Amino acid sequence: MEISAIWAVGLCLFLARHGIEAEASYPSCRNLQSNPTEQPYRTAYHFQPPKNWMNDPNGPMYYNGVYHLFYQYNPYAAVWGNITWAHSISYDLVNWVHLDHALNPTDPFDINGCWTGSATILPGEEPVIIYTGADTQNRQVQNMAVPKNISDPLLREWIKSPRNPLMSPTNGIDANNFRDPTTAWQGPDKVWRIIVGSLINDHGTALLYRSRDFVNWTKSQTPLHSSNKTGMWECPDFYPVSTRTGVETSVQNADTQHVLKASFNGNDYYIIGKYVPETDTYLVETDFLDAGSDLRYDYGEFYASKTFFDAAKKRRILWAWIQESDSSSADIEKGWSGLQSIPRSVLLDQTGRQLVQWPIKEIEELRENQVTLLNKEVRGGSVLEVPGITASQVDVEVSFDFPHFKEAEVLDPSWVDPQLLCTQKNASVKGSIGPFGLLVLASKDLTEQTAIFFHIFKTHNKKYVVLMCSDQSRSSVRQDVDKTSYGAFVDIDPLREKISLRGLIDHSIVESFGGEGRSCITARVYPELAINKEAHLYVFNNGTQSVKISRLDAWSMKKAEIVPTNRRRNSHFN
Ligand code: FRU
Repeated sequence: MEISAIWAVGLCLFLARHGIEAEASYPSCRNLQSNPTEQPYRTAYHFQPPKNWMNDPNGPMYYNGVYHLFYQYNPYAAVWGNITWAHSISYDLVNWVHLDHALNPTDPFDINGCWTGSATILPGEEPVIIYTGADTQNRQVQNMAVPKNISDPLLREWIKSPRNPLMSPTNGIDANNFRDPTTAWQGPDKVWRIIVGSLINDHGTALLYRSRDFVNWTKSQTPLHSSNKTGMWECPDFYPVSTRTGVETSVQNADTQHVLKASFNGNDYYIIGKYVPETDTYLVETDFLDAGSDLRYDYGEFYASKTFFDAAKKRRILWAWIQESDSSSADIEKGWSGLQSIPRSVLLDQTGRQLVQWPIKEIEELRENQVTLLNKEVRGGSVLEVPGITASQVDVEVSFDFPHFKEAEVLDPSWVDPQLLCTQKNASVKGSIGPFGLLVLASKDLTEQTAIFFHIFKTHNKKYVVLMCSDQSRSSVRQDVDKTSYGAFVDIDPLREKISLRGLIDHSIVESFGGEGRSCITARVYPELAINKEAHLYVFNNGTQSVKISRLDAWSMKKAEIVPTNRRRNSHFN
């Protein structure tokens, strides 16, 4: 970039940071933003607004046949600020229509921002939003909003409660660390409960509030849970899970466990335990960051997530904010920042030890031009192209078989950090059984490639350990993007089941699901060469041992329709 262009980007960044609409005040800011629809990093089937900054998913819900997604949005710029609740609706969680903003920061109790919150559907089918407002003194408070017209099928307008704020930071609560209320649940005593994320005496904390009427809320003396090993808990989530179907938020029985999720250290961590509503206690055997335990929804870029119960399909759906790993000035240049993950359905794994996640079935509607490979050997040191697909926009599923495991390298017990292991033993470091997997968003000559791979090790007591990596070290010839690699162990026994991988690849995002959703890794990448038609998909094996592709299916993905109301082709949305 030339010096003058760097200056201009700096100015636009400054204007945006100060809440001034950059385009209006300085026309060059518009020139710096190339047309988003022509940009190589713009996605085809991930949710994103037409322009500007987006962060957390807010208040997702299914109501009267319509899915609603609200999200943290800056209407004026591609950087965080002026936070508003933008609102989009869908009938299938794939195609979306953007509506007018649901909540704007206009009142004393949210004048400095309408921050993250959740929706609850009260008995009698009444949706309610509770969200954090940054008030006139920049204190964080909790507010309520309800639909203006409950018979509007799209719930276009929302009215803030005259009783706001409903919860304020009093009695030792830090006004800077009091935010992100959860969906409420009702105990057998009919009392509603909500968690608000906090930091109390250096403990990440889930403050518990109770109410009979949803307006008057009382803080419980004891929080639902807290931890001295973490910082502030942003965007907590608390919900029941079972191994078979999704469970409504107020339900709990012998079959269910409860998940507590908190967002900190740039990741979404969760623990699994038993909730006793009579005493509002939450019992866990393994807590956040306990030695050897590190349960995260996703081991890559995946933050501030939120789930909701989809009553139509009896499933629990998870959304998360996937931020850019490019610079802020590059975000301004392209005019937007942030994606939402493909919604995932969440179940408790059969082992009860962890969750499993899988992209919602509806996304398969976008698949076309299937390519299949069956029983193909991939010898050590070789690369095999998956031909005939649009590799910048793909859904791919592959499972691998192995002749034997005798040659697996022994896992050094000090290799406890899978991310470090993936960084040291990246895709180009030869191993024995692995690294093998996919090279996605790769240029023809492989100069650019993002490697999603496995590496199998054996422990001293002859068990096998499966490492899954997302290696971004060669994802772009650009030097100025974050190329951190990510890693996770996958809780599977390769002697008993095939090792499988699914990848949702969409121009600048790669969502990877290992072991049928037991470990997930999302990465943002910014290739320069491997864009649009120049992108390729390969299977590779850089181990000395052969592996066999038992089956591979890849589909080019159609573009989802994610548009403002007036651009909708199909009129039933209007
Ligand atoms: C998480 C978060 C929330 C807050 C919101 C503000 O990304 O920091 O804690 O409510 O974003 O946009």
